[in-house]
Amino acid sequence: MRTLKPTTNNHQLAAPAGRPLPKERIIVALDVDTLDQARYLLDSLGDSISFYKIGLQLYTSLGQAIIKELQDRNKRIFLDLKFHDIPNTVASVCRVVSSLGVDLCNVHALGGAAMMCAAADAVKECDTQVLAVTILTSHTPEDIKDELHITLGLEQEVLALAGLAADSGLHGVVCSPREIEAVRTCCGEAFLIVTPGVRPAWAATNDQKRIMAPSEAIRRGADYLVIGRPITAAADPRAAAIRVIEEVE
Ligand code: C5P
Repeated sequence: MRTLKPTTNNHQLAAPAGRPLPKERIIVALDVDTLDQARYLLDSLGDSISFYKIGLQLYTSLGQAIIKELQDRNKRIFLDLKFHDIPNTVASVCRVVSSLGVDLCNVHALGGAAMMCAAADAVKECDTQVLAVTILTSHTPEDIKDELHITLGLEQEVLALAGLAADSGLHGVVCSPREIEAVRTCCGEAFLIVTPGVRPAWAATNDQKRIMAPSEAIRRGADYLVIGRPITAAADPRAAAIRVIEEVE
């Protein structure tokens, strides 16, 4: 079990033993368009949630204002923009991200070892940690074979890319709950595993296909769980968050 490095911006959220509390292992996906919508969720969730994911939708809409909003509230931030470009460009953007005081960001592992090494090198003196996205969960085994001409099977490809990310010096991966144990075995205890596709039994599955209960994902070795709609679309987001936290506990 890994913990994130403590950040320099007063986000010292690790439990005394160095292990995050269950509520610190839930990352809520702020998949909304406006500052008002984000503030509604932040106000509702209050101190029940300390970690948020900002994706392309909200970052494109608000830019750094949403990072400042979260930092003003002493929240940790996963900036999920999935960089994929030449090594120099990705290294440069990782330096910018780390200067913003973001805790986690990510790159596509398909950008290759040189790109991931450049990203790891760019943040080595900083508190920001970089995760790799292996194969998007929206791809099917047929897609990757017939369209992308990837000849390894899907699971083998995910593991190969996770291993490449670890060898390149990245801090962890974003992967589906089904891949947790194989990635843990392949990449070791020190590798961060962050998983979306998590659904409590009482929540709608929405468009997620390969789901797992939060407690099961933690049991299998996930460090952090990304959860969106079961919390953000609930009539009472705070009650839903507390229910998820209790399940993890
Ligand atoms: O609402 P829901 O819990 O499905 O949200 C999951 C979040 O995790 C979304 O922001 C989604 O984009 C993200 N995600 C995912 N599957 C991946 C990678 C990221 O669902 N493989």
